[in-house]
Amino acid sequence: MWRDLTPIGRDDRTHGYHRFAWTRADHTLREWFVGEAERRGLDVVVDRVGNQWAWWGDPDEALAAGRPGIVTGSHLDSVPDGGAFDGPLGVVSAFAALDALRRDGFEPDRPIGVVNFIDEEGARFGVACAGSRILTGAMTADRARSLTDGEGVSMAEALRAAGRDPEGLGPDAETVRRVGAFVELHVEQGRHLSLPEVDQPLAVGSDIWPHGRWRIRTLGEANHAGTTRLADREDAMLGFAAAVISARRAAEANGCVATVGKVVVTPGGVNAIPSEVTGWLDARGSDETAVRLVVDEVREVVADFEGLLTEDSWTGPTPFDPALVRRLATRLGGIPVIGTGAGHDAGILANAGVPTAMLFVRNPTGISHSPEEFATSQDCLAGVEALTTVLTDLAGASA
Ligand code: GLV
Ligand code: MN
Ligand code: MN
Repeated sequence: MWRDLTPIGRDDRTHGYHRFAWTRADHTLREWFVGEAERRGLDVVVDRVGNQWAWWGDPDEALAAGRPGIVTGSHLDSVPDGGAFDGPLGVVSAFAALDALRRDGFEPDRPIGVVNFIDEEGARFGVACAGSRILTGAMTADRARSLTDGEGVSMAEALRAAGRDPEGLGPDAETVRRVGAFVELHVEQGRHLSLPEVDQPLAVGSDIWPHGRWRIRTLGEANHAGTTRLADREDAMLGFAAAVISARRAAEANGCVATVGKVVVTPGGVNAIPSEVTGWLDARGSDETAVRLVVDEVREVVADFEGLLTEDSWTGPTPFDPALVRRLATRLGGIPVIGTGAGHDAGILANAGVPTAMLFVRNPTGISHSPEEFATSQDCLAGVEALTTVLTDLAGASA
């Protein structure tokens, strides 16, 4: 599976991935998912949003009998120049765990589902976890349809181009009800498991930090870079730069992290004074009030320059299901339980009331959202084994 996925959406120069929602690369990944599901005789269902679900067993029959399914999986899209593991490791491990269960002759008492959430990174339309947000009603279909990418293509247009009816987009309670529990396996996106005093291949996720994305827009007047006196300029970049510096300072002062990693400058000429700068602030922290303080400080600086800061998305503190977390940690022999500053579809499902937990696989580089992201084959296999144990436990007759 890994070999088949490797070339899809890969930049041969950087070895980074460019797998954005509803693009050709995404289409190929979705075909790959269907192929893997069909090869295993699983039933593929696509929900109203476009998330793909591959079921072993009938989720509706089981639901009617009071035994909703156990779902695992993750996403296949990437950030710009992303790593190979963020997302795909969870989907590949899900299929591999299913293979292991069957090889062992396991007969599930509940259906087991493998999911591929669409547009987890929000790399194209700006809102992370778009697939699970729309599915659970955390983002309205109207808002989703109107989001635009860097080329001005709306999600509605992208859906149409991919052969889907954008009017079909919307919350899908029927799909959510089928999920009795969701366990997402994911590559670790920090260094905790590699610390010498920890040195463990796996951990169970306990919670996700509060986090959000805000759009900063500052305005100026385009003019010549050589002939316009400094005193006569209205340079949109100055307010924007002040906002970036204030984000860093406020994050430091409040024990948070803040990032401005995407900027669009208009008109975008080396020798033209910027008339408009739009950039995205990503702010996170373990304490919700502290994150809000950071954003308030940046908002004030932006306002001083007569710019605008608006919220694109916000996810509050997200604990996973405590009983499920304890159960996983115990079944897996008391492995570490850690929180994370990364967002996941698992968090959106948890906030929608689905019992949810995560498994993290050690990443020795500690780097993620970059081609440097890594996990050894040995640790990945330990992840598959752990996921197999978890599925045996949750979908077995004694569950
Ligand atoms: C997703 O990976 C995020 O945390 O931004
Ligand atoms: Mn990611
Ligand atoms: Mn991810």
